[in-house]
Amino acid sequence: MAKFILNGEPMTADVESDTPLLWVIRDELNMTGTKFGCGIGTCGACTVHVGGRATRSCITPISIVEGAEITTIEGLSEKGDHPLQISWINLQVPQCGYCQSGQIMQAAALLKDIPKPTDKDIDAVMAGNLCRCMTYVRIRSAIHEAANAIEGEQS
Ligand code: FES
Ligand code: FES
Repeated sequence: MAKFILNGEPMTADVESDTPLLWVIRDELNMTGTKFGCGIGTCGACTVHVGGRATRSCITPISIVEGAEITTIEGLSEKGDHPLQISWINLQVPQCGYCQSGQIMQAAALLKDIPKPTDKDIDAVMAGNLCRCMTYVRIRSAIHEAANAIEGEQS
């Protein structure tokens, strides 16, 4: 039995210890905002936060996150109004949308580490999150917009 905190709520899952966190989130807990892309840690579609760090849930066995705090796109904000989610809407970032929850979770971790990232910072941190629809330019713009909004809230 795995025990962890998911989006602020204590959770248990009766799964084998090597079950990927992604399958626990999607199949056991029916939270489908986190997506399956490659399954080998190379596309970023499955990105969640574990202890605040961006983590590829497809290659993370549930045993590794025992007791940890996990956040998925569903828990990033109470009403879908994280500054990144707002800027994503403002700039109409998604095309098909499949990669976007992973993109936003990766970007949220970036802004925690680097509140005012440069283009270079963004490209370096976001490079592992692939988008077949090539929304990279809008993603970069939306991250800058969110960073400015967060800075405005804090000043
Ligand atoms: S599905 Fe996890 S990195 Fe691609
Ligand atoms: S919006 Fe389609 S894969 Fe990124």
